[in-house]
Amino acid sequence: MERPNVLLALPDGELAAAEAALRRAGFEPVRLDESGPHVDLAAIDCDEQPEVAQQLHATLHDGRSVPTILIFGNEPPEYGERGDEYAMKPCPPEALIYRLQAMLIRTGRTLPGDAAGMAAEMGDVPMMGEGRVISVFAPKGGVGKTTIAVNMAVALREQTRDRVLLFDADVGVGNVTAVLEVPAKKGLIDLADSPPEEWTDLAFEHVTAVHSETGVRVLTWGTDPGDSEKITVDLLLAALRWGKANHAYIVVDNHPGYDDRTMAMLTLATEIFLVVTPEVGALRNSAQFLTLAREVGLGDVVRVVVNRANHGIAVGDMSKTLGLPVSATVVSNGPKAVMASNEGHPVILKFPKEKIAQDLHNVARLVTQPPMAKVAPAARRRVRCEASVRLA
Ligand SMILES: Nc1ncnc2c1ncn2[C@@H]1O[C@H](COP(=O)(O)OP(=O)(O)O)[C@@H](O)[C@H]1O
Ligand SMILES: [Mg+2]
Repeated sequence: MERPNVLLALPDGELAAAEAALRRAGFEPVRLDESGPHVDLAAIDCDEQPEVAQQLHATLHDGRSVPTILIFGNEPPEYGERGDEYAMKPCPPEALIYRLQAMLIRTGRTLPGDAAGMAAEMGDVPMMGEGRVISVFAPKGGVGKTTIAVNMAVALREQTRDRVLLFDADVGVGNVTAVLEVPAKKGLIDLADSPPEEWTDLAFEHVTAVHSETGVRVLTWGTDPGDSEKITVDLLLAALRWGKANHAYIVVDNHPGYDDRTMAMLTLATEIFLVVTPEVGALRNSAQFLTLAREVGLGDVVRVVVNRANHGIAVGDMSKTLGLPVSATVVSNGPKAVMASNEGHPVILKFPKEKIAQDLHNVARLVTQPPMAKVAPAARRRVRCEASVRLA
C-alpha cells in the first residue's frame, strides 16, 4: 500500500527522531508547516501549546475525521473524539509506531510494507477474516508458553470442532511440532525465498500440516535457527492474515522478547494470554511487559495465566503485583507434562483426567465461554458510554 501520511505535531526536540522512526516503519511523516498533503493519521502533543493543539485537532475533525493520537503528560485533553486515542508520556518513537500501526489496523487499513495486504486490496487474496487470534506470550522462555499454546489449540478444537490453527511464531527457537507431532516438516521458511505475490492461500495450505488425531492445523516458522533472519514481519503478517481468513481460532506461540516480529504479532492479537510462573523474575518481567502493553494500547486485551500455580508466590499476590486479575491457573505436573511432550502427545490428550488437563481446558474456556462481567447491566452501560466518549 502507499505510505500513510502522519501529521506530527511534536516538540522540536522530539520531531527528528520520530520522523526517522516513522519512515523506517513505512509511514510518511508530515510537518505542520507542510500544507497540502492529505493526512491519514495524526499525533499531537497536547501540552506544549495547548491552544494550538486543540485548534489543530479541531481542523482534523472539521468535515473529516483523522484518527489522532493525543499525547499528554498529566491530564488527557477533553476534546478527543471517536477514533482518537490517548497516549501518556513518555511516548518514545517505537511506542508511537506501534500505536499508529494498531490504529491503522483498527480502521481496517493494512500496515505499510504489508505486501499481502496490498495484494488483498487489489483483490488477489481475501481480506482479514474473522478468526480470533489468541497470542500466547511471555517475556521469558521456559514458563510454559508452548505447553499452553499447544494444549489450548487442542482444547479449542475439542470444545468447538471449529477450524483451529496453531501457529508457531517463536522464530529461531520454538518448535510446537516437538510437542504435537505432525507428519509434514514444512513451514513458513519454504515461502521465505518467494516474492510476496506468491504467498497465496494455496501456498500457505501447502506448508500447513494437520494433526490427524484432533484435526488441529499446524503452521510453523521452520526448524533451523540459521533460517531465522529470513522470516520477515511481512511473511508472518501475511500468514496471520491467511490464518484469520480461513480459521475460527488462531493460537500463536510467540517468541519471548520485544523484537519487531513479536510486536507485530501482538498488535494483531484479539487476546494476549500472558503466561507467568510464580517466581520473582517472571513476575517482574511480566509487570514490565504490562507497562509496555498499556503504553502501546494493548493493555485491554491481556489476560494473565499462571502456570505451575501451586508452587511459589501466591496467586493473589501475583494479581496484586500485576494490577490485573489472574484469569486462569494451571497446576504443575512435572512427570506427566514432560512425559507427554517427550512423546509428541499433548498432556491434555494423554492424561485427560489429570487436573493439569482440566486446567488447560479451562484456559481454552476463557475463549469459548467468556466469563460473565461482574458489573450490573445498567452500571456497565454507563461505564461503556464514558469509555466511548473518552476513547472510541
Ligand atoms: N504445568 C506444568 N507442569 C509441569 N511441567 C510443565 C508445565 N508447563 C510446562 N512444563 C514443562 O516445562 C518445560 C518448558 O515448557 P514450555 O512450554 O516449553 O515453555 P516455553 O515455551 O515458555 O519455553 C517443558 O519441559 C514442559 O513440559
Ligand atoms: Mg516455547
